[in-house]
Amino acid sequence: MNNKKVVVLGGGVLGTQIGLMCAYYGYDTTFWLRSESSIERTKPKIERYSALMLQDLAQAKALVGNPMGAFMYPRGMVKGEWSAVTAEQIDELLACGKKNLEEKVHIELDKAAAVKDAYLVIESMSEDPKAKIDVYTQFKDLLDEDTILVTNSSTLLPSMFAEYTGRPEKYLSLHFANTIWKNNTAEVMGHAGTDQNIYNEVVKFATTIGMVPLQLHKEQPGYILNSMLVPFLSAAQGLWANGVADPETIDLTWQLATSAPAGPFKILDIVGLETAYNINQMKPAAQQEGTTENKIGKLLKEKIDKGETGVNAGKGFYDYTKK
Ligand SMILES: NC(=O)c1ccc[n+]([C@@H]2O[C@H](COP(=O)([O-])OP(=O)(O)OC[C@H]3O[C@@H](n4cnc5c(N)ncnc54)[C@H](O)[C@@H]3O)[C@@H](O)[C@H]2O)c1
Repeated sequence: MNNKKVVVLGGGVLGTQIGLMCAYYGYDTTFWLRSESSIERTKPKIERYSALMLQDLAQAKALVGNPMGAFMYPRGMVKGEWSAVTAEQIDELLACGKKNLEEKVHIELDKAAAVKDAYLVIESMSEDPKAKIDVYTQFKDLLDEDTILVTNSSTLLPSMFAEYTGRPEKYLSLHFANTIWKNNTAEVMGHAGTDQNIYNEVVKFATTIGMVPLQLHKEQPGYILNSMLVPFLSAAQGLWANGVADPETIDLTWQLATSAPAGPFKILDIVGLETAYNINQMKPAAQQEGTTENKIGKLLKEKIDKGETGVNAGKGFYDYTKK
């Protein structure tokens, strides 16, 4: 086994970001993609995210010595306390990171060649249980005996898939957040059959790629973050949908009272209103006329139909086109 070889299954938004963080920290990183057309879609993402990562790191140099920099630098790319970081250190990281991003990233279509000798395989394919089971089944006899397999799934539990992996004791969740070079959380969650030593190994691995491992002691849908965030955002939307207060006032209340940098509706704009709508519509009460969830669904749908889906669209609850 090659302790420096990491394989990412899936070259989507998160898969690309995860693979690039591994490469940045010197892991020999292979993206397994299923077709030539997947390569055409993933290559521009590799270029775009590599450039963004290096750009954010370069910009952090101007923040050296500024305590506010601690809230703004790409935390996943610079280890240690912000107050101790020097401009020379950032220059070194830039040079080494650029070299690694150029030299350590590989793309492979052949399944056996992709995972040969791998230390860790990170599955980050679409959130589709059938597709994940299909891929686990295809890979299970190709992986080395010692290879650890993790999933980045946001909503599906590892116990749903363990039996298809051929290595349930070496299988668990390692869940990253979007823009992982800045938002460097890694929620580590095993299923009942995960070997504790393997779990500990994955915790260690997460720190080697600049993440802060957040350890869950048992399976929990939504992990830690979404178990708190989803009810919080629902409560805020309920106040809005029931006409108690407008989004700006609700955000202001939260920010003034807790010193938080953003309120729930700003967060909803970042998450995207389609995602908020999909989560709301999964609740049975959303289909019942007159319920708070039903009102939330209608209001979100109105905004989505107008194209006001959040930051990415330039407008959501707030207008991002204004200078
Ligand atoms: N997007 C996020 O903000 C986010 C955050 C944390 C975790 N996740 C999780 O990461 C995983 C990937 O999400 P994403 O946003 O990167 O999705 P995405 O749609 O951007 O990428 C999915 C990738 O899976 C590939 N794929 C789909 N079916 C396949 C198959 N049968 N065989 C091979 N490849 C296949 C696609 O080609 C694509 O490269 C999901 O499990 C999601 O829950 C996403």
